[in-house]
Amino acid sequence: MFGSLVLFAVVLWFFYFLLRNRRGKNFPPGPSALPLLGNLLEFSSENPIPDLSRLARRYGNVYSLFLGPQKVVVVNGLQALKEAFVTRAADFSGRPHGLLLNDATQRKDWAPGLALAGYDAQWRDHRRFGLQVLRNFGLGKKSMEERILQETQQVVRLLEESAGSEVNPQLLFHKLASNIVSRVVYGSNYDHNDPFMKSSIRAVRENTKILNSAWSMIYDTIPAVRNLPLPFQKAMKNFKELNEKTAEVIQEHKSSRLPGEQRDVVDCYLEEMDKREDGLSFSEDQLCSFAQDLHLAGTDTTSNTLLTGVLYMMAHPHIQERCQQEIDFALEGKDKVAFGDKQKMPYVQAVIHEVQRVANIIPLSIFHCTTKDTQLMGFSLPKGTIVAPNMASVLWEAGQWKFPHDFNPENFLDDQGEFVKPEAFVPFSLGPRVCLGEGLARMELFLVFVTLLRRFRFVWPAGAGEPDLSPVFGFTMSPQPYKLEVRCRETADH
Ligand code: HEM
Repeated sequence: MFGSLVLFAVVLWFFYFLLRNRRGKNFPPGPSALPLLGNLLEFSSENPIPDLSRLARRYGNVYSLFLGPQKVVVVNGLQALKEAFVTRAADFSGRPHGLLLNDATQRKDWAPGLALAGYDAQWRDHRRFGLQVLRNFGLGKKSMEERILQETQQVVRLLEESAGSEVNPQLLFHKLASNIVSRVVYGSNYDHNDPFMKSSIRAVRENTKILNSAWSMIYDTIPAVRNLPLPFQKAMKNFKELNEKTAEVIQEHKSSRLPGEQRDVVDCYLEEMDKREDGLSFSEDQLCSFAQDLHLAGTDTTSNTLLTGVLYMMAHPHIQERCQQEIDFALEGKDKVAFGDKQKMPYVQAVIHEVQRVANIIPLSIFHCTTKDTQLMGFSLPKGTIVAPNMASVLWEAGQWKFPHDFNPENFLDDQGEFVKPEAFVPFSLGPRVCLGEGLARMELFLVFVTLLRRFRFVWPAGAGEPDLSPVFGFTMSPQPYKLEVRCRETADH
């Protein structure tokens, strides 16, 4: 018995030193790693973000961890993040493979989509195409605004029916964000009542939970468990169904489309395929991945930001009231808000940005990886190193903000009360991989937020205790589930 224990301890130490030494020469420092588990035990499964900041205080703004056998470099603070994603953009804009997010989506090698694609010609082609179609579908024009306002009116009607009672807004905001982006991608027949959208919303909600859980960390850390019947198999099944259903929707588009008439992103893509004919970069499989990327990336992010915004408005009623005064004044005599009205609402703009800052919606962005051997803040990183930006370390960085740790719209206002955007405002990330949907998201957040605050007062229900502002950690952060009491505002001019 004693002999076995000694042997076990020796093997453990062997692996320990093996892993410790694998950091390599001039690689960023970090805590010692355990065999198999890497640095998994350094982190709270509830919310590892404070642990990441604790390690930055100990090892500096660029340090390393082991995610099982893989090395991950964590980047903290604006200076290091800019050096990586902007100054050395070409070296730091790759995407890693072999994590749960990659495996669960079951993408074919030639059809990685956009968000998880490597930094290569196919990604560049699709990125350019994506920006162009979003522009053509009305970003910067009235049609996108109309679409967003129409969808928001549905939420307004539902909230009006619930006036005086308590509502859980989670599903409402999720469907709103999903509808806006799916109308652009799949066309107007695919709203949340359509069976395809219903099952895709269900799959996305279930998968977000799984991808956000400790199971995701376990999958990424311990390759040996990947084929076991554990919850991540459910995510694989959901994505398989989603892939099949998206392929059916593409077939429907193929049979009903008229040449030269583009109803949505899918039609535009099919037309682009016709033009290219080589079937290499643009293909039906790649369309399936690309369409899903836009839908997935544009749903939870926007809806969780709205959820956080309404929660903070209830927790800070005087800020809600000041927004409403500014909105009433700016929109006097108008029946609805336009995106251009934001110039007249510096305080509301400051509040929306402050909500995004404290919400830290994608806390580790989407992981990047190095495309070649490179340098960062004097350290050497070999090709293929996973790079995880700790977004909170910039969004809440001391020295970058007037009030880094408080919810305070003054962070975005100058001495004259005009809106200003500090450089450290990076919820959409920065560099060539910056969020493709930033323009759409900013338009949605402004139009929805203003329309809702103009029509309603949101009140924290009496008897519900104090609002809990602590987030639920995940690939996208969300507030703790909550209910709100909704009251119609009589003063609204509509
Ligand atoms: C508040 C809302 C949103 C936030 C905070 C957000 C944030 C982000 C972040 C942090 C990234 C990763 C950037 C990086 O890798 O460095 C990203 C990527 C991306 N986002 Fe968003 N996003 C939002 C809304 C949207 C919307 C509405 C869409 C779609 C229309 C969208 C589409 C994408 C796509 C396609 C990528 C991948 C870009 C690439 O890899 O080149 N996002 N987003």
